[in-house]
Amino acid sequence: MQLVIENLSKTYPGGLRALDGVSLVIPKGMFGLLGPNGAGKSTLMRTLATLQNADSGTARLGDIDVLNEKTRVREILGYLPQEFGVYPRTSAVKLLGHLAALKGVGSSNRDRLAVVESLLERVNLSDVRHKPVATYSGGMRQRFGIAQALLGDPQLLIVDEPTAGLDPGERNRFYNLLAEVGESIIVILSTHIVQDVKELCTNMAIIHHGRLLKSGSPSDAEESLRGYVWSKSMSKRDLSEKTWDYPVLSTKLVAGSPLVRIYSEEDPGHGFAAAEPDLEDVFFSYLNRSKAG
Ligand SMILES: Nc1ncnc2c1ncn2[C@@H]1O[C@H](COP(=O)(O)OP(=O)(O)OP(=O)(O)O)[C@@H](O)[C@H]1O
Ligand SMILES: [Mg+2]
Repeated sequence: MQLVIENLSKTYPGGLRALDGVSLVIPKGMFGLLGPNGAGKSTLMRTLATLQNADSGTARLGDIDVLNEKTRVREILGYLPQEFGVYPRTSAVKLLGHLAALKGVGSSNRDRLAVVESLLERVNLSDVRHKPVATYSGGMRQRFGIAQALLGDPQLLIVDEPTAGLDPGERNRFYNLLAEVGESIIVILSTHIVQDVKELCTNMAIIHHGRLLKSGSPSDAEESLRGYVWSKSMSKRDLSEKTWDYPVLSTKLVAGSPLVRIYSEEDPGHGFAAAEPDLEDVFFSYLNRSKAG
């Protein structure tokens, strides 16, 4: 089963074009949706999660017409929104049990409790399952969020910037959990952390201003820049005097000195050395091109 999106467009009242003819094929596995703030990631995800309508275009998942057969989509969907909203003073077991009942999971209370307990075990919240969700840390809340999204064994899991605010340890645990789930279903993950997509996703897309700039596997995308990325460590003064004229991909401080990465199809000279392309270079080179064109 794969998700096939064709020519999806959405303009918000007021005229902001949040999706502009997006076409994408999303197979089973982890799919990373990369884009800067305001790119249209959440709009795309909410549309696929049947929470808002597109103006035009289609999305099909197997034989399901995603934009029109909302009930069928909801039966196979798990969704973790960017903002989960209010966390009640109810325990995880009770809240998840309640959500399970709403979703029609399990035929009896006992059934449901078994599902809930096993999900909480899976997201490593068993020992705090009787504590109010409102008292959880950010990482624990996200893991609870994943548990609710996994209710009813979804075939399509959509998680919108799930690791914002998590410490590295929590982020790793969260991603290990997602990767495990992503072995058998479609998982769409949005983020602006390029490295996460590289580590986790078999396929990805870069969107900006509602437009698809690039899709494919992270490693193919990196390979496509081989030979074109050059880097140089320089002083802040050299950087401000900028005697070379190539598109800058990124400028990072490494131990206080700027490390500049540029795009050039030939040897740029000026002391730049050939660099191994990474996904961040891909991201910035497409954003640059999109601004230029
Ligand atoms: N309900 C709305 N009404 C009007 N404009 C909106 C609405 N929701 C989003 N937008 C605008 O649409 C564009 C895309 O927003 P969206 O939330 O989809 O981006 P995003 O890629 O998820 O960004 P972020 O990384 O900040 O979460 C933005 O310019 C945003 O201001
Ligand atoms: Mg968003």
